[in-house]
Amino acid sequence: QPTDRTTGNLPKAELHLHIEGTLEPDLAFTLAARNGVRLPYADTEELRRAYLFEDLQSFLDLYYGLMAVLHTEQDFEDLADAYLARAAAQGVRHAEIFFDPQAHTARGIPIATVVEGLSRALERSEERHGISTRLIMCFLRDQSAESALATLEAARPHLHRITAVGLDSAEVGHPPAKFREVYEAAAALGLRRVAHAGEEGPPAYITEALDVLGVERIDHGLTCMQDPGLVDRLVRERIPLTLCPLSNVRLRAVDVLEDHPLPQMMAAGLLCTVNSDDPAYFGGYVGDTYHAVHEALGLDEEQLRALARNSFTAAFLDDDEERRRR
Ligand code: ADE
Ligand code: ZN
Repeated sequence: QPTDRTTGNLPKAELHLHIEGTLEPDLAFTLAARNGVRLPYADTEELRRAYLFEDLQSFLDLYYGLMAVLHTEQDFEDLADAYLARAAAQGVRHAEIFFDPQAHTARGIPIATVVEGLSRALERSEERHGISTRLIMCFLRDQSAESALATLEAARPHLHRITAVGLDSAEVGHPPAKFREVYEAAAALGLRRVAHAGEEGPPAYITEALDVLGVERIDHGLTCMQDPGLVDRLVRERIPLTLCPLSNVRLRAVDVLEDHPLPQMMAAGLLCTVNSDDPAYFGGYVGDTYHAVHEALGLDEEQLRALARNSFTAAFLDDDEERRRR
């Protein structure tokens, strides 16, 4: 029986983590009190009872709603620092962190507040938690292409803090090609590119994210298994997939963890990583996720080590600062 060190605590990178999805009920109520925000839940117990999701959209409704407590730079710093402390305790050595600027600017919170607050925590992360970090700015795909372009424009003064752009939120009906222009602009600014694709959407969205948006990694990519030709391509081109098994169960993409195709995906030669997505909502941080796939899917120590190795292979760990100045 592998010890916790070989399951939960294995040194690893986390590549699919929405910082807003690390907002634990306790911190949500603390920030609500600090900012005079009334939440539609009596207490943390009642809030936790609302975490029964039917699909991605039912989760997103609650996720965006709870962000109402995030107001100041201090709030964003506290949020990120709490995540980094938890991640460190589960073996995370490098974290590439998504944030959703439009979910905050739509509430009147300037992008500067978000980026500067998060950056205060990220700057101290190496020294406090032993975790190196990157920041990935996501566009909300259920908002317009114009809104994404305006978000990239608003982020211009902060690009020295941002490594890559991503694409998240409600997938079905919002194919990647809608964001061709903003991804081209991001690439021209020296930003790297990733996108959620194939979480609930069809395999064609994965192909489109690669061919039209030029992404280097696919976030989720679960539905590639419906298209053997696409699997061959992902293997051949060594495109990393940032899988999130606990998220897939909670958002009902798979019925139970025992049914998750991770073992078949690894056996097919896909460059798989496992990640926590929105750990405050989906029942565990990334170490818990490694432990869960060990228990439910029978992945052995060697397979868990392969996942951890893949997480560093797939990370943006080369010198993106130099790329930015070029
Ligand atoms: N935003 C936060 N979590 C997400 C997920 N799992 N899919 C799409 N958008 C998200
Ligand atoms: Zn995600």
